[in-house]
Amino acid sequence: MIIAIDGPAAAGKGTLAGRLADHFGLAILDTGILYRAVGMKLVREGGDPDDASAAADVARALAPADLDADDLRTDAAADAASRVSAVPAVRQALLEFQRAFAENPPDIASGNANGAILDGRDIGTVVCPNADCKLFITADVEVRAKRRFLELRERGLDAIHGRVLADMKERDARDSDRAVSPLEPAKDALQLDTSEMDADQAFAAALSFITSENK
Ligand code: DC
Repeated sequence: MIIAIDGPAAAGKGTLAGRLADHFGLAILDTGILYRAVGMKLVREGGDPDDASAAADVARALAPADLDADDLRTDAAADAASRVSAVPAVRQALLEFQRAFAENPPDIASGNANGAILDGRDIGTVVCPNADCKLFITADVEVRAKRRFLELRERGLDAIHGRVLADMKERDARDSDRAVSPLEPAKDALQLDTSEMDADQAFAAALSFITSENK
């Protein structure tokens, strides 16, 4: 079983993916971490995330240890990721890893995985167009910025609400307007707006869709 979850930042994809992975016994891949790792490796090396050729070189040389860097959850990483992810050669370099994960998911803590769940921006449209089930999770940008602001504060990081909102709007625009694999729902995806939902409600809605799709 392969489940694809796409949507903009802080829409609730990660939380939903985790709940569904536990429920169905699926291995989970947060594909944003791959782009974050490329972006931050480039920045740490003194490079410019808008330098397409340097970004492609880093993506091709990405190693599993790069995914363990402790700065990948920062806003600087999100910004760098959004920039390098517009480079076609970067996307191409990361595509094979994502597809291999979906087709041969690694074992999970409770045993063999029953499949995989990938979350990102182009999973249902490009990475796994034949996924058994596709979800496109959205929420109002103001709601998403508030969630991200509270999450940053909870993690003890400095955050200014207006800045988080402006960054999110900029990132939404960059992810949606890029020429390759822009953020957009697959035609056969369930579109779920979580603006007024908590995690339990989003999980219940997703579960009922998945169950009806796989009857
Ligand atoms: O999901 P995230 O916030 O960790 O993603 C960071 C950036 O990486 C996002 O702004 C766009 C890019 N990304 C992408 O282009 N395609 C994906 N499948 C996942 C992330």
